[in-house]
Amino acid sequence: MSNDYLSGLFSLDGTTALVTGGATGIGRAIAEALARAGASVVLVARREAELDKAVAELRGLGCRAARVSADLADRDTLKRAADEAAAVFGEPDILVNNAAVNLRPPLGELGEDVWDATMAVNLDAPFLLGQRFGPGMAERGFGRILHISSQQAFRAFVSSGAYGVSKAGLTALARSQAEAWSPHGVTCNTLVPGFVLTELNRRLQEDPERIAQLAAATTIGRNGLPEDFAGAAVFLASRAAGYITGQTLFVDGGMAAH
Ligand SMILES: NC(=O)c1ccc[n+]([C@@H]2O[C@H](COP(=O)([O-])OP(=O)(O)OC[C@H]3O[C@@H](n4cnc5c(N)ncnc54)[C@H](OP(=O)(O)O)[C@@H]3O)[C@@H](O)[C@H]2O)c1
Repeated sequence: MSNDYLSGLFSLDGTTALVTGGATGIGRAIAEALARAGASVVLVARREAELDKAVAELRGLGCRAARVSADLADRDTLKRAADEAAAVFGEPDILVNNAAVNLRPPLGELGEDVWDATMAVNLDAPFLLGQRFGPGMAERGFGRILHISSQQAFRAFVSSGAYGVSKAGLTALARSQAEAWSPHGVTCNTLVPGFVLTELNRRLQEDPERIAQLAAATTIGRNGLPEDFAGAAVFLASRAAGYITGQTLFVDGGMAAH
């Protein structure tokens, strides 16, 4: 098979990408995958040390990478961060809305503060970044918006609380964005992880029995790793996926099919 053929389908050379929460976990793996496929990548998250480490690692791999430290829960900060990120390599062609918090009180004990904090990062920020970058992508005739959702958008377990609601909103947001911008070459899709061993669920990982149960809930028989998202992200960001939009792709080891 010719490399030219594969490059024509999947290369991200010459594109720019913005990955929220791109310094750790799934976002870090997606950022690396996009960058190694040719995109210039800007990571946006709060923690400076993690951002610096990720950027240094990506540059060490020969990738073009930069970072913006910002709290996406704050709307003014988000708007400033979006401008700052776009100033590095140009307006992004690829937007990955991956940053999220999972504050786990059961719904009965969940206060307005947790609801607001969850929605601000998990749903409002993806909406606001879409409003900021989607129209420009449409005007340029090419764009890729990718949201990272959760099983809890589709079924309740381990205290879905506000988190599951915010993630369910992302599925509908991708469809609304697809309706608005796909006629102009912008695809908008959602990836749904299963249970992935990252910082986000560090507390759950302290219970080996629970971890084994979650692995058994997949058809493949293991929990997810951040690198499991590399291929799906590059594919959906690529020209090859130009006719796929408004869709939800489960990257979950078969958990949802089980
Ligand atoms: N791990 C799983 O099992 C699993 C399952 C389903 C879905 N997901 C989804 O996968 C995505 C990535 O999560 P992960 O598992 O890779 O965990 P993670 O490493 O904790 O990633 C979350 C990222 O979001 C960033 N973030 C959180 N709040 C932010 C804010 N206010 N402003 C800017 N950035 C913020 C964090 O960076 P800072 O703290 O530095 O800001 C962090 O890099 C999330 O959308 C999550 O809901 C994960």
